[in-house]
Amino acid sequence: MKYPSLADYLNQQNTAADLQSVLLGLADTSINISKALAKGALAGVLGAAGAENVQGEDQKKLDVIANDLIKNDLATLSAVRGLASEEETAVVACNLDGKFLVTFDPLDGSSNIDINSMVGTIFSVLSSDADGPVTESEFLQAGRHQKAAGYVLYGPSAMLVISTGNGVAMFTLDPDTGTYLLTDDQINIPKETAEFSVNMSNQRHWDPAMQRYISELMAGKEGPRGKNYNMRWVAAMVADVHRILCRGGLFTYPWDARKPEQAGKLRLMYEANPMGFLVEQAGGEIWTPEGKILDIQPDNIHQRVPVILGAAEEVNTCVSYHN
Ligand code: AHG
Ligand code: MN
Ligand code: MN
Repeated sequence: MKYPSLADYLNQQNTAADLQSVLLGLADTSINISKALAKGALAGVLGAAGAENVQGEDQKKLDVIANDLIKNDLATLSAVRGLASEEETAVVACNLDGKFLVTFDPLDGSSNIDINSMVGTIFSVLSSDADGPVTESEFLQAGRHQKAAGYVLYGPSAMLVISTGNGVAMFTLDPDTGTYLLTDDQINIPKETAEFSVNMSNQRHWDPAMQRYISELMAGKEGPRGKNYNMRWVAAMVADVHRILCRGGLFTYPWDARKPEQAGKLRLMYEANPMGFLVEQAGGEIWTPEGKILDIQPDNIHQRVPVILGAAEEVNTCVSYHN
């Protein structure tokens, strides 16, 4: 059987050539990130051997390496006007005549690097018709306006998952040819689930509604929900969301009383919005306790947000505990 390539898929979707160039460019960069990750600790060893700086300043952490790879590659694309990254303080101008803005989390779950566990790159593509210098205000668009979004999961195989607003497609990297091949385009999150994903060690710091919701899941068959739930937590949103796209479930990263001024841990424009675009395209839901995440008007590129996503009915149930 012949699997379609990413370019075949985008052509078949009638994706505009300029948007294709952005998605194909991100895919190419991710292959280089996956090579850097595969070197693991050796990247540091090799870097140190060749480094001239006695301060060791060339031994960049992999999330900085990933950020620089994406930033440099996007800057070469005429369709990209600017970018915003979790690792950059301010927005970065690329090609002023470009039409697209890209926001990204270069390496999600980077604490997993030290234990050789899963990490990923998450990205979102917005459009802009602004002229002149690139400004942060152009980026401050609700997630509903994304032109495309996706992630690359660097796991036992590298997988690229994207949506251009017409369903969700999963591609697997063939390491022999360095190409992403379409392996699933029928992604659907079942409305109900018996699996949830949350960092349980923080339970006592959540708001009372979230504490009660999770306690009632934990109470299982004998509790008010009347069924047993399973739990999974990879500590990389990209891997937890991938599992939910593959087999369903609910994921949450709630507000936490230890940082009451901070809305949540996850970032709206680098994590919640792109994942939300995929989740909604797969028939799931993504909410804060107050409303749908894709409807939030951002006021800051680095804004954080509490996240509840996944199986539509379970997300609605969780949100209802907060009303
Ligand atoms: P990042 O590595 O980009 O900072 O993101 C990590 C995030 C997210 O991916 C994950 O769900 C969460 O942090 C893990 O948090 P805990 O440390 O509480 O498990
Ligand atoms: Mn992240
Ligand atoms: Mn990150």
